Amino acid sequence: MDRITKIKIGRRKFLRVSAMVAAGGVLLAACGDTVSPTNTPAAGTTTVAGGATSLKLGVLLPFSGVYTQLGLDIVDGMNLYFESIGGVVAGRKIELLKEDEENDPQAALRKTKKLIESDKVDLLTGIVSSAVALGIRDTVDQAKTILVISNAGAKDITGARFSKYIFRTSFSNGQVPYPLGEWAYKNVGKKIFMTAPDYAAGRESVEGFKATFVKAGGTVVGEVYPPFGKTSDYAPFLTQIQQAKPEAVYAFYSGTEAVNFVKQYEQFGLKKDIPLVAAGFIVEQDTLPALGGAALGIKSTLHYADSLDTPENKKFVADFTSKYKRTPTTFALQGFDSARFIVEGLKVVNGDTTNKENLVKALEGVKFISPRGPLEIDPTNHGLTQNIYLRDVVAGSDGKPMNKVISTFEKIQDINTLLKN
Ligand code: BEZ
Repeated sequence: MDRITKIKIGRRKFLRVSAMVAAGGVLLAACGDTVSPTNTPAAGTTTVAGGATSLKLGVLLPFSGVYTQLGLDIVDGMNLYFESIGGVVAGRKIELLKEDEENDPQAALRKTKKLIESDKVDLLTGIVSSAVALGIRDTVDQAKTILVISNAGAKDITGARFSKYIFRTSFSNGQVPYPLGEWAYKNVGKKIFMTAPDYAAGRESVEGFKATFVKAGGTVVGEVYPPFGKTSDYAPFLTQIQQAKPEAVYAFYSGTEAVNFVKQYEQFGLKKDIPLVAAGFIVEQDTLPALGGAALGIKSTLHYADSLDTPENKKFVADFTSKYKRTPTTFALQGFDSARFIVEGLKVVNGDTTNKENLVKALEGVKFISPRGPLEIDPTNHGLTQNIYLRDVVAGSDGKPMNKVISTFEKIQDINTLLKN
């Protein structure tokens, strides 16, 4: 059972943290009708009613540090989907074994080995940080454990360091701002300053934006990369931006770093003169309540907006809001989609996780209409081709800031494919 504790973030925001992260697993589903599975029970596997073994899903996510809320949102999205199917797939009860990725590749590697070697999980999912994804990639590949990444956008995971056992149901870092570069050149400014935390996700996000901005004719007048996970005072970096006199700024930040950066950008007096364009993580539902008016007018691109007017999204937003009493973020959506992706693949192989090659083939064929739009894995790189939405932060009918979709860029491919063209 999850024990819920509260920790304070910033001035007002309270986060729910699962104490089970350290302690072990959670049996998610109530016992339903079970069918005899074709898999062989691994040592330590729970045998459930009807003789079927539970499906152990290792969930590695941040439950501490700047990306805590992202991890919590992904878990909530996953639970929403698993509960919608009664917590059982092909007769196997779904059991989540959660571990904290700690925003630290070394710690995450230890947790990965524990989940694979001691807990003997059937599959792995989660991973928010690109640095963590890159750090655990070889261990996952060598163990032939199937990993479904529900956030981390590291380019090499679907490129130079591709593994047939790793799938990504979220985005690639450069894919998200790729269409924004050209749009910003035409609509916002010709001279840009770029800033992001100093690690793979930040640098790759800048690279994706720059590819189309520079091709369109734009000039980059400066770049700055504050230390990742350690920066809360952006004043020295904002000074550099001011001195470079750009016509616009491109930024990638997420979690508590996004809140600090955007608030200080306004307090420093930059917002009124230099428009901020961004990868949409900066103004998601996890940051908007704390940002308030500081977020208004920020144009961003992302593969989701909770305001998308489709039946699939309306249902997702209504179900999520009713269960958790808050609006879903893109991270919650990614958790929901990752859970469905895993379940759709498992259904094809009748819950058999022992034949990895069959399960890989089944997952390569999964497609469905997600709340974000059509979701289809590219079998050549295990990344996604998906719509990217241009959003503008406006005051909603309740006066609170929300992302209004102003344009859709259809079928944007994984960044490795885009950069080849
Ligand atoms: C990443 O590290 O890949 C990442 C983290 C937060 C938001 C988006 C990407």
